[in-house]
Amino acid sequence: MNQDQLKQLVGEAARDEVLKLPAGQVLGVGTGSTANCFIDALAPHKDHFAGAVSSSNATTERLLKHGFKVLDPNDVGIFPAYVDGADEIDPAGHMIKGGGGALTREKIIASMAQCFICICDASKQVPMLGNFALPVEIIPLSKGVVTKELEKLGGHVTLRLAKEVRADLGQTQSQPFVTDNGGWILDVSGLKIANPLALESQINQIAGVITVGLFAKEKADILLVSNASGVSRISF
Ligand code: 5RP
Repeated sequence: MNQDQLKQLVGEAARDEVLKLPAGQVLGVGTGSTANCFIDALAPHKDHFAGAVSSSNATTERLLKHGFKVLDPNDVGIFPAYVDGADEIDPAGHMIKGGGGALTREKIIASMAQCFICICDASKQVPMLGNFALPVEIIPLSKGVVTKELEKLGGHVTLRLAKEVRADLGQTQSQPFVTDNGGWILDVSGLKIANPLALESQINQIAGVITVGLFAKEKADILLVSNASGVSRISF
């Protein structure tokens, strides 16, 4: 089975998991290729839910295309479940997220949910977080100062660039990747994250940081993880 098939498999398992919820609830929906598999698998059952709260413009677009009702997070209270992928997940359910750049909204929506259901293939499971460069969303004018602070923590910091070069707009080289919130992203490599909760709190306190892609306070409650022999369900 290739990675796309594993994502599809776990997307279908997440669909079955959320369909156990009573009808008429609000559902939180994440961002990324695995979350997309979940959205596509859930689409025929969209009427089971009162609506969805979305973690990015890309996810909103996909949900609307399938006919889901997309709700403003300010109009909903706590809801039962948030389903999203991860870039890395450790044995306690702490995650690195933000590979797709949606970390801030993902963390907000996750904080509104009673249960974070993480969906991924087994390649995302690690004994300790940190091989995947940690994304940190920042206010653009703080790039210099935040970079220095992150380097003090032992990280190697790279500004994330947009993949597309727009020659029609006079761009000769890639510009910074801009998030849905107008922020930039610093990717921090070289960190071995032994205490995710402490590091999350430390990075959050640097002036200019909007959100760090460490999900320790908002860690996974349930992990659905796929490999060649099927999908396992782990509760933390
Ligand atoms: C986006 C995310 C994604 O959940 C994470 O990058 C995993 O993506 P994928 O399912 O495509 O591997 O945090 O900001």
